[in-house]
Amino acid sequence: MKILLTGGAGYIGSHTVVALIEAGFQPIVLDNFSNSHPAVLERLARIVGQTVPLEHVDVLDTPWLQDVLRRHRPAGVVHFAGDKAVGESVAQPLKYFHNNIGGAVSLLRAMEAMHAETPEDAPTLVFSSSATVYGDPARVPITEDFPRSHTNPYGHSKLVIEDMLYALMAARPAWRVGVLRYFNPVGAHPSGLIGEDPAGIPNNLMPYVAQVAVGQRDHLNVFGNDYPTPDGTGVRDFIHVQDLAAGHVAAIKALLGRGESFTVNLGTGRGHSVLEVVRAFEKASGRAVPYRIAPRRAGDVAQCWADPGLALRLLGWRAKHALDDMCTDAWRWQSGNPNGYRG
Ligand code: NAD
Ligand code: UD1
Repeated sequence: MKILLTGGAGYIGSHTVVALIEAGFQPIVLDNFSNSHPAVLERLARIVGQTVPLEHVDVLDTPWLQDVLRRHRPAGVVHFAGDKAVGESVAQPLKYFHNNIGGAVSLLRAMEAMHAETPEDAPTLVFSSSATVYGDPARVPITEDFPRSHTNPYGHSKLVIEDMLYALMAARPAWRVGVLRYFNPVGAHPSGLIGEDPAGIPNNLMPYVAQVAVGQRDHLNVFGNDYPTPDGTGVRDFIHVQDLAAGHVAAIKALLGRGESFTVNLGTGRGHSVLEVVRAFEKASGRAVPYRIAPRRAGDVAQCWADPGLALRLLGWRAKHALDDMCTDAWRWQSGNPNGYRG
């Protein structure tokens, strides 16, 4: 059964390719490489022992998308493609509204056109949403019925896409849609062949810590140690990208099986502080991670973690990996590929 992955060459997409093949699906990667490297396809081939088909296409190009859908007739589509840097979205909001919202509209229109041609195939879509749609949550753990809000154009784009999907589901009962709200994906495939390869200075904690440990940056700035948390630093629900990939397989299976749409959190249900991550990474890497306390980062919340119970009930999925595994695998990737896919 073919599954099309828009943005499939990216960080989460590439790990999901492996998990889908291991589960017996045939993934097809669609990407424009705006935030990824074609070398990922060679790495994937080494992991899975087969060539993964690639469509070098921009999701904004609806006619091309339609052509791809017509040629492959995938049983499902996972929509990862989009831009994801919060700071950049504040500086360049139109880029985010264009690529993220425009990309989703383009894909949905192509899928709708395909459905008109082949009404026997129910349009089946998994969408990469984010815990960012909860804004500043009133309490933790976060359940899916919490109010949604946005604090930046990136988060706004995710919220608008969710709303578009809910409107579409109301208008077109044949559609099967799984909205996955990821918490903080980290780690890498245990082979050390694929992982997160951020361009420029990493915005997120784990890749920054990894670059400090490998000696590319001299210290980590810890953004605030006066939050109302046990050690004063921010607390997040870090989830191993391997668990996240397994969550996509579970989502696809549920949509193709039971056929009901859903929105679920993908998190571990546990929070870890910035300083806990630093200590766990030092242990995993055997390297020191020097840090300095810096002012809070604008827009950050004190703590954020999921109640992942609904994903367990609906998909039979739960995260298995602990923080130590996440750090060990992130370190294997970082130390083996200090310059990422650029060699
Ligand atoms: P990523 O940047 O590594 O992957 C996204 C991929 O989409 C890249 O390969 C990029 O080249 C491709 N892409 C972007 N615009 C495209 C376009 N117009 N046409 C075709 N391809 C395009 O990001 P990721 O971390 O793998 O995230 C995947 C999805 O999950 C994104 O939608 C992101 O917003 C969402 N998400 C990520 C996180 C996270 O922390 N990584 C958290 C929550 C949600
Ligand atoms: C950020 C985004 C969120 C996005 C998520 C995953 C913001 C405000 N939020 O979430 O929308 O969905 O990434 O891509 O950007 N930290 C440091 N030093 C650093 C980097 C981070 O102390 O150099 C701290 C942060 O203050 C935070 C924690 O580490 O307390 C995690 O930060 P990060 O990895 O950026 O994730 P989020 O802020 O949760």
